[in-house]
Amino acid sequence: KKITLLPVPFDWGAGRRGAKDGPEAILRTGLERKLRLLRHEVETAPALPEFKPLSSADARAAPHALKHLDAVADMNEALALQVSALVGQRRFPIILGGDHSIAIGTIAGLSAHYKQLGVLWFDAHSDLNTADTSPSGNLHGMSLAVSLGLGHDRLVKLLGRCPKVLPEHIVIVGARDLDEGEKQLIRQLGIRCFTMQDIDRYGIGKVLEEAARQLQGTDGVHVSFDIDSVDPNEAPGTGTPVPGGMSYREAHYAMELLQESGMVTSAELVEVNPSLEPGQRTSRLASGLLLSLLGETIL
Ligand code: ARG
Ligand code: MN
Ligand code: MN
Ligand code: MN
Repeated sequence: KKITLLPVPFDWGAGRRGAKDGPEAILRTGLERKLRLLRHEVETAPALPEFKPLSSADARAAPHALKHLDAVADMNEALALQVSALVGQRRFPIILGGDHSIAIGTIAGLSAHYKQLGVLWFDAHSDLNTADTSPSGNLHGMSLAVSLGLGHDRLVKLLGRCPKVLPEHIVIVGARDLDEGEKQLIRQLGIRCFTMQDIDRYGIGKVLEEAARQLQGTDGVHVSFDIDSVDPNEAPGTGTPVPGGMSYREAHYAMELLQESGMVTSAELVEVNPSLEPGQRTSRLASGLLLSLLGETIL
């Protein structure tokens, strides 16, 4: 594949700072070189410029508002344009975050090319909050809702088309911490959501089989991988860890199966926060998962 790694050093969508250093930490693991060993043509694009809020006091002043909306919207507009350009050049984009609010721009950019985009959302959360249901006001908890057309005008209308993705073309995997409003939305829209209980019951292999079936008829599949979908024992360096996540092998096997399926057309890896761990366990895991997704095998 012709891969472009696109670093997005942004963390104003999250409740705590630090995920903006995720891309650098992931790249430091030698991801580019290791992808080349898998016979891909690889380039690392210049990092998206840093977008900062004019004042960081507004968040504290209005705890239930959409925090740092301007920075999140501006960043995502720039990101959407870049992702759209990459797909236009027939590149396979791998976006390195950054907090999960960057999925807004990634998906907006992809949706300019894929009219029936499928989204595989690996996450402990569902990021389906709106201004009305969010307990935190943090936009990284709203990015999937925005992609469905639910949210602030500045976000849902990026690059024009709204919604970017249909409910039946979304599959969530690894969920275990859903807010009340998110549960309602999942039921109301009939979104396919494989919780940790489903993974326990059926195994990750069956879950991925079902997910693939659900995404039949899409013209592209984006993997949006929030590293907090993996258990905090394996991925401690993340801002909103939740116990009871996917094991190291479950996560890798999911990526290996997706590689075999050949259905994935883009990927993003988010919420690695190197400031929250002394070592490089989480960034190494993130890098390894992308390598599995792009064809690295054990033997
Ligand atoms: N549901 C919580 C919220 O909306 C947590 C979201 C965490 N999202 C994430 N991308 N890590 O605030
Ligand atoms: Mn997330
Ligand atoms: Mn999450
Ligand atoms: Mn369909």
